[in-house]
Amino acid sequence: MTDEQKKLITATVPILKENGVLLTTHFYKRMFTHNPELKNIFNMGNQQSGKQQTALAMAVLAYAENIANPMVLLPVVDRIGHKHTSLDIRPEHYIIVGNHLIESIKEVLGDPATPAIIDAWGVAYQQLAELMSGHEAKLYEQQTSKTYGWTGWRPFILGKKEAESAEITSFYLYPGDGGKVTPHLPGQYLSIRTFLKSLNLKQARQYSISSAPNEDYYRISVKREKGVNLDTNGLISNYLHDAVNEGDVLDLTAPAGNFVLTENTTAPIVLISGGVGLTPLMSMLQSLIAKDHENPITWIHGCRNKSVHAFKDHLDYITTTKSNVKQHTFYNVITPEDKENGILEGYLDINTIPELPKDPDTNYFICGPSAFITRQYQDLQAKGIDKKLIFFEEFGPQVLQMN
Ligand SMILES: Cc1cc2nc3c(=O)[nH]c(=O)nc-3n(C[C@H](O)[C@H](O)[C@H](O)COP(=O)(O)OP(=O)(O)OC[C@H]3O[C@@H](n4cnc5c(N)ncnc54)[C@H](O)[C@@H]3O)c2cc1C
Ligand code: HEM
Repeated sequence: MTDEQKKLITATVPILKENGVLLTTHFYKRMFTHNPELKNIFNMGNQQSGKQQTALAMAVLAYAENIANPMVLLPVVDRIGHKHTSLDIRPEHYIIVGNHLIESIKEVLGDPATPAIIDAWGVAYQQLAELMSGHEAKLYEQQTSKTYGWTGWRPFILGKKEAESAEITSFYLYPGDGGKVTPHLPGQYLSIRTFLKSLNLKQARQYSISSAPNEDYYRISVKREKGVNLDTNGLISNYLHDAVNEGDVLDLTAPAGNFVLTENTTAPIVLISGGVGLTPLMSMLQSLIAKDHENPITWIHGCRNKSVHAFKDHLDYITTTKSNVKQHTFYNVITPEDKENGILEGYLDINTIPELPKDPDTNYFICGPSAFITRQYQDLQAKGIDKKLIFFEEFGPQVLQMN
């Protein structure tokens, strides 16, 4: 890429900032018209909410802003790369996306998109695609080099289905080929894919693994997503609850994601979750216990009430048998019985918890809805916690930018 082309890209940043989401919305419409088979790869629910358009627009914008030194984007590229590999995105897909992105820039910008600007964007996209698919090639390589590792979609059989609360159900998934699974890193997720008759499409979703790492199965725990209107219930979560039974086959990709416990950490750990956001933290907690983690582990959880409090008995058992594990639970509204059992009332507020570890190396992991993550992150920062020690996972395309 020439200096002149870099200047043209930099000059496009303000226009992209103004038209970023418009551009990517147009781009997706164009791509799904010309390449409808890609609807099987993308989450058509995210398309409706506009979250995916925002995530892509922000990634393109961040790239354009850093065109002089794209390597500063590596942490973002790593996060997207994990999501892409979890969905089996390959270099050939980048060619299709590139074609529609460049054509969309032409169509949305109109006359101001001179041939020189379009050429510069063609080169810039190529550079970004090489950076991303190069990183993804390394992630695929890492997957296959792991014991029992694999890439792409692999059939799994549902071995056990178990209710964890009024709206969260666990699914124990065993390889359909009778083989072993690669142990995940606590905090990682996998993608699950199934054919939906209602859309006449395959659809994939990510689910954090809620079990401790092992070589036999993965457990995921899924919340039934109810829409405000009856016809807007979440597609896959309800399908899993209602239509998938023990013995049924689902396609899975190997564990991915970089929201993980630091390997062999001995530091105190604080795990903060809202609602179904407890799933990756359950895996972390069980893994720490299996490794006899000696330093304090603080489990802080908030949910609406007892009926939706998943894994309650298991958590009570852990905290009564392990002296270094403490739990603090908040329900939106509490009954006198909850109060007697030490449940706190209201939205999860870490400022009301006196016993947070004092060790400056303590690691904090947050998972829950976006507003929940934002509040916990801000409260931790207000307490003077270094943001390098705060990790979070959003259950959707990441739109929060805090690190
Ligand atoms: C890394 C990661 C880990 C995750 N881990 C978990 C986990 O452990 N457990 C878990 O339960 N989930 C998890 N998720 C979320 C999961 O991937 C799905 O997003 C979730 O199950 C909803 O999928 P769905 O197909 O049921 O809903 P979708 O059909 O994708 O719909 C999404 C939401 O939009 C609503 N909706 C749909 N259409 C409309 C409309 N027209 N108007 C208004 N609202 C509408 C639905 O009710 C639903 O709440 C994770 C996500 C990520 C990215
Ligand atoms: C330079 C090119 C690309 C950029 C900048 C990009 C950017 C992104 C970003 C920012 C996310 C959200 C990540 C998150 O969850 O936090 C994402 C997710 C995703 N990307 Fe890409 N991407 C690119 C190429 C591709 C290609 C080639 C494909 C496949 C055709 C693809 C398919 C997906 C899918 C399926 C998701 C998951 C979200 C969903 O299903 O709606 N992307 N990408």
